[in-house]
Amino acid sequence: MSDTRSAGRYGVIGNPIRHSRSPEIHEQFAQQCSIALSYERILAPLDGFEHSVQDFFQSGKGLNVTLPFKEQAFELASHNLSRRARMAGAVNTLWLQDGQLHGCNTDGVGLCADLRRLGHDPADRRILLIGAGGACRGVVFPLLQAGCELLHIINRTSTKAHDLREHVVALEPDTSRRLSAGGLDDHSGDWDIIINATSASLQQSLPELPDARYRKHSLAYDMFYAGEPTAFMVAAERAGADQVADGLGMLVGQAAASFAIWHGVEPDVEPVLAALRQHSGHI
Ligand code: ATR
Repeated sequence: MSDTRSAGRYGVIGNPIRHSRSPEIHEQFAQQCSIALSYERILAPLDGFEHSVQDFFQSGKGLNVTLPFKEQAFELASHNLSRRARMAGAVNTLWLQDGQLHGCNTDGVGLCADLRRLGHDPADRRILLIGAGGACRGVVFPLLQAGCELLHIINRTSTKAHDLREHVVALEPDTSRRLSAGGLDDHSGDWDIIINATSASLQQSLPELPDARYRKHSLAYDMFYAGEPTAFMVAAERAGADQVADGLGMLVGQAAASFAIWHGVEPDVEPVLAALRQHSGHI
């Protein structure tokens, strides 16, 4: 067997990290593309992220970053950030180029790719985004870039939704007409796509969403994923969503975009997604 370590060392860093599906995803992409690599889980101490990253890049080539370190990764790569990372204020993909640390955020492109895969291209759609935490920040600009007609962010703490809007509009003033914000009950009209980006699904609880109306051919998308439909997905179906989906496809999509940055090849997400679903009734 070849020594894959010499061919390229990659990994995902977080705390906790044991649950991460990234190794199996990247290993399957690598097989598909005949690229030799190793991909490991790295548990960084909560107060030791920078040291762990420096240590990894003594020999490593690329690192995915997950909770709770995406903002710290943004700071570490602050001299070499992609536009997506600047818009998100968070980084999930790090790599070395000319000896310097670079950072990007692929969460939003992963989401947009998954929406297209499901037959719901965000272009010209009215999209309601619920939540304004870390999970939201990476997806707002890519949804706007994908050409949605309107993106309305609502959050339990409405000031956070307004702050997120202001952050994006300050960096990209052209987005101001298509981006709005409010509290959880501050929405009117009907929606082509409603995305749950709150952490409510983690407790199988449901964000209160009075009277969110779905249009014809609509999609309810939960950025969370589990072995069974989330409370949000069940409620959305009852409320008239034509299609519901969890966020496993987004997870594979963001990994595919990181893979493309590191290796210059776009892997095929479908077989990897199918394998994950088949082998993981428990997720
Ligand atoms: P993450 O990084 O997963 O987004 P976060 O930054 O802590 O985590 O943000 C969690 C988001 O879920 C927030 O938008 C939070 O609303 P608040 O800003 O008002 O706290 C939202 N959230 C969590 N539980 C919720 C619930 N039960 N109902 C509605 N929103 C909820």
